[in-house]
Amino acid sequence: MIKINENFLKLQAGYLFPEISRRVNTFKDQNPQADVIKLGIGDVTKPLVPAIVEAMKSAVDDMGTAEGFHGYGPEQGYGFLAERIIECDYKSRGVSLDKSEIFISDGSKCDTGNLQEIFGTDNVVAVQDPVYPVYVDTNVMAGRTGQAGKDGKYEGIVYMPCTAENGFAPELPSEQVDMIYLCYPNNPTGSVADKASLKKWVDFARDNKALILFDAAYETFIQDDSIPHSIYEIEGADEVAIEFRSFSKSAGFTGVRCAFTVVPHKLKAYKSSGEPVEVNPIWNRRHCTKFNGVSYVTQKGAEAAYTPEGQKQIQEVVQYYMNNAAVIRESLSGLGYSVYGGENAPYVWLSTKDGMSSWEFFDLLLEKAHLVGTPGAGFGAAGEGYFRLSAFNELDTVKEAMRRIAKIS
Ligand code: MLT
Repeated sequence: MIKINENFLKLQAGYLFPEISRRVNTFKDQNPQADVIKLGIGDVTKPLVPAIVEAMKSAVDDMGTAEGFHGYGPEQGYGFLAERIIECDYKSRGVSLDKSEIFISDGSKCDTGNLQEIFGTDNVVAVQDPVYPVYVDTNVMAGRTGQAGKDGKYEGIVYMPCTAENGFAPELPSEQVDMIYLCYPNNPTGSVADKASLKKWVDFARDNKALILFDAAYETFIQDDSIPHSIYEIEGADEVAIEFRSFSKSAGFTGVRCAFTVVPHKLKAYKSSGEPVEVNPIWNRRHCTKFNGVSYVTQKGAEAAYTPEGQKQIQEVVQYYMNNAAVIRESLSGLGYSVYGGENAPYVWLSTKDGMSSWEFFDLLLEKAHLVGTPGAGFGAAGEGYFRLSAFNELDTVKEAMRRIAKIS
C-alpha cells in the first residue's frame, strides 16, 4: 500500500498566491467587463533591460556554434557569473567570498524552500510573523511541525510577531531556536534592518549555535545608504548565516529564473554528538544531486546585469518602481491609512480601517475597486488587519488604483 507523506496533509488550503488567483479568476468569470488592476503578487512588469537582452541574444548565438555550444554546465553555476557576484555584490561592501561559496540556482523560492532539507528535522524553526509562506510550508512538509491551530500557526514553530507596535522588528526568541528565517528588506512589511539590529541576530545565533537563513531578495531596492545589503556586512555572520539573493526583482528575471545562495565555508552545523560539520560541502552534495544548473543563456543575461550599462539600466527600473511605491504611500496616507514600508522595498504595507479583516478588505477592493492586493493574514496571524500592495506596475496603473481606493475610502 502506497503511503502518503502525512506532513503534506497538515498544510492549510492553497498556497497564498494561487489562492488569490483563484478568487480573482472567479470574480472575472462573473464580471467579464471588469478591468482588474493587480498589485498583488510581486511580479515585475518592466521588460528586461537592453544590456541583458543583448547578452542573452549573443549567448543564444554562441549556442548555435560548435565552439560556443554549452551542454551541462557546472551545477553551482559558471565561474564568470560567480566572479561578478563576488566582485560587485560583496567585495564592494567589504565582504570577501570564494567562488566555492556561491551556488547559482533558478530562484530564491526554490533555494529558501530546499535548504532546510540538509538540517535535522528536530531543529526548532523561528520565523518573522507575517512571513513569506515558503519558509513555513517547506518546514511543515519536512515534518518539523505539528498541526496548525485555528489561528493558522503550526505547533512547534516559533512565530516572532512583527507589528506596528514593535516597528516590525521582532524580539529575540526567549526559547532555544535553531533555524531562524530573516527577510530584509522584508516581504511583506517592507521594513529594513540596520546594522545594529542585524548584529543582535548574528550575536544571538553565535551564542546559541543557531543558523540564520537570510533572504535578501529585495536588497536592490534599499535607498538608505546606512542599511546593509548583506548579512555578511556584520562581523561573524559568515559563521552563522546563509544568504539568498535573486535576480527576479532586481533584474526583472521572474520569468527568466536566476538566483544564488551563499554558503560560507566557516558555517558549521552539529552532529547529535555535538561534533561540528561544515555545511558548504553538504549543500554542494545536495545541489549537485538534485539540480543540473541554470542555463548558459540565463547566466550570461545575469552577468550583464553587472556591467556598467546593465547597472545603470537596472537602477532606472528600480527607481521607477520606487516612485510607484512613493505614490502608493502618499495616496494612502492622504486617505488616512497608516502606511509602512515602500521606502527601501517594493512593498507598501498598510493597516486596514475600522477593524476590517485582511480578507474582508481584499474582497472590498476586488469587488468595489477591481483592485487586487495581498491580504496580510495570508502571511501569518500577525498580518491580520494589514494589507500589502506591490509597487510593480506601470505608473498610470498605480495612479488609477489609488483613484479607485480613494473612491471607496
Ligand atoms: C511575493 O509577492 O511575495 C513574491 O512575488 C513571491 C515570490 O517571490 O515568490
